[in-house]
Amino acid sequence: MTSGGDAPGMNANVRAMVRAAIYKGCKPFAIYEGYEGLVKGGSDYIKELSWNDVRGWLSEGGTNIGTARSKEFRTKEGRLKAAKNLIDAGINALIVCGGDGSLTGADLFRSEWPELLSTLLKSNQITQSQHQSFKYLNICGTVGSIDNDMSSTDATIGAYSSLARICQAIDYIDATANSHSRAFVIEVMGRHCGWLALMAGIATTADYILIPEKPASSKEWHEQMTEIVAKHRKRGKRTTIVLVAEGAITSDLKPITCTEVKDILVEKLGLDTRITTLGHVQRGGTAVAYDRILATLQGFEAIEAVLQCTPDTPSPMIAIEENKIIRRPLVNAVKLTKSVAEAINNKDFKKAMQLRDSEFVE
Ligand code: F6P
Repeated sequence: MTSGGDAPGMNANVRAMVRAAIYKGCKPFAIYEGYEGLVKGGSDYIKELSWNDVRGWLSEGGTNIGTARSKEFRTKEGRLKAAKNLIDAGINALIVCGGDGSLTGADLFRSEWPELLSTLLKSNQITQSQHQSFKYLNICGTVGSIDNDMSSTDATIGAYSSLARICQAIDYIDATANSHSRAFVIEVMGRHCGWLALMAGIATTADYILIPEKPASSKEWHEQMTEIVAKHRKRGKRTTIVLVAEGAITSDLKPITCTEVKDILVEKLGLDTRITTLGHVQRGGTAVAYDRILATLQGFEAIEAVLQCTPDTPSPMIAIEENKIIRRPLVNAVKLTKSVAEAINNKDFKKAMQLRDSEFVE
């Protein structure tokens, strides 16, 4: 199942899982439309996939099995329906490719599984023998998100494709900016994470980058940006590129808008300035080689992980650390990701940065 925002490489991930599962002697199914499809169930939403069904999926962007937000899965009723649908389809392991919210949902589902099963048995929705055969649900998460915002992994599936797309767009903008000697303020996706903006800034020599992880007071960043841009212009630079991560905030937690940045460039430096919001082009398109490789290796590892899981193994999340594909306890990775957000909300930016670089310690 793919869940949350789509990301290039999700299809490659599904393809690898389908083929690894068949290779290992299992029967792979796809849940269409994320948790929504899991709750709806039936042959429209839960379909067995064959080796050839996923041909050509390695490079394709988006997710061919769909993704959708589900309010119903957040309720006990919804999760009860989801459990029944899985049992009806004969499924006893679930792999979810998505962001932190999607993976938390999967782990909660697993922890509730025995209770859901008893309720289904008591209400005669499943038989005693089904109750016995589907006693455990193994869960595994792979992280698909362009934002690269998950703790305990160096890269999420889709982040490098999005980065490549952003850099390409900035290169295009640079050509027109140079022709008119203009300034461009470019908004980059990433939710509460500045990775895309920061890396794109380094790769395209942006003049100034605003990210959520390094907030300053309005006065501070106004002055610093003006000084830096003025210095670059004095040296003869004809273009000015300022990248604004969509989650960029000031030290008193106010969002920084592209219009605010533009106004300063116009008023303080007299620059002819335009704003470009890159939007969803950042999320579409084919997956770059790195994402194809990451998704394939992690898809294979996910199948091995669910096959090796015992009832006592914590649900694994497949990660990459120092170029090695590894398993991390899913719950810890999600907890750590959430504590970073909490630290930012509490204006404890130093702690947020430390947490982002750390491993989970109970
Ligand atoms: O999480 C991926 C992401 O593209 C973020 O970078 C962005 O904030 C958000 O999703 C946009 O969501 P939607 O496609 O629902 O507008």
